[in-house]
Amino acid sequence: MTSTDKQSTDLKTIAARIKSGSITRIVALTGAGISTAAGIPDFRSPTSGLYAKLAPLRLPYPEAIFTISYFTHTPEPFYALARARHPGNLKPTLSHAFLALLAKKGLLQFCFTQNIDGLECDAGVPSEKTLWCHGNWKNQHCHKCHAEYPDELMKKAVRDGEVPYCLDEGCKGAVKPDVVFFGQPLPAEYEEKEKLVADADLMLVMGTSLKVAPVSQLPRKVREGVPRILINRERSGDLGNRPDDVCILGACDDGVKELAEELGWTEELEEFWKTVVEAKEDDPALEGGPSLDECIQKIAGHMNEKSKISNGHKRMLEDHLSSKFANLLGPKRG
Ligand code: OAD
Repeated sequence: MTSTDKQSTDLKTIAARIKSGSITRIVALTGAGISTAAGIPDFRSPTSGLYAKLAPLRLPYPEAIFTISYFTHTPEPFYALARARHPGNLKPTLSHAFLALLAKKGLLQFCFTQNIDGLECDAGVPSEKTLWCHGNWKNQHCHKCHAEYPDELMKKAVRDGEVPYCLDEGCKGAVKPDVVFFGQPLPAEYEEKEKLVADADLMLVMGTSLKVAPVSQLPRKVREGVPRILINRERSGDLGNRPDDVCILGACDDGVKELAEELGWTEELEEFWKTVVEAKEDDPALEGGPSLDECIQKIAGHMNEKSKISNGHKRMLEDHLSSKFANLLGPKRG
């Protein structure tokens, strides 16, 4: 665990300001790194990340699995991996609990999450203080006609790794959970909520590589002079460039422990986390199941067969979905 140098502030100073009440409007921004300890691999870590693991699928590029124009004709890989990435029986981490504790203490102004697992909500972060910037698994619709699709059938599809199709015989589009795919707009509230960043008196960025716009731009909207804390395995975005930045490089849960210790909340946080984990009920329908690697092996064979008959189509796609669009969600903002 190291903090970067050349900084005019540090964790101790920020903690003291929180304790004295001079920091009360904390805005959090989270990514996949706060959920890896719960058992969901992140996207871009070199070997353990999902995108590295997808190589056997020979997708046009890894993000294609979450790209709407690809899903439209090839939804199978998304569903083949859905169960292994579904948060069904996974428990919130200490980092999720810390966010909920901030909310409980009236210190969390807002939480922007790029995660679709809903674990911050399971930990107790109020939904009115959360924006699931990339959507979540709570509801699902036909991606073509937008008809709703029943929860129970969706759960079965996820459990079986099969693509669910629209119940309207005349449509038969693939059903998609309400997660935001590349090429789809962010939730309508995004533009309104991002204004809260300029009003923050502390920004806490955790577990994200800040590679996907427009969310990656949020930390830049923090006013100069307002501290920003990054808790992540590596530096990301422009965090560390301002004198008031503090970078705690390492595991999110360790960084959170360090911050909690400075705040004098260590025991309270551990106790709170325990109750949060115990409170989340398991869903028997999603117990067990194949690992992510097993799912990938299984679908790889199917994909190779499919690519034999559609190489021309694949080439067309590769041209069309050039990588400049791969890391941009929806219309460009900010
Ligand atoms: P990434 O996989 O891009 O980045 C995760 C970051 O967390 C990396 O910097 C890791 O080093 C770090 N990390 C992983 N485990 C950690 C741990 N236990 N403690 C501390 N740091 C850890 O994930 P995101 O930034 O969330 O979007 O990705 C953003 C978006 O890209 C996702 O929402 C998803 C993806 O494509 C869509 O699919 C639309």
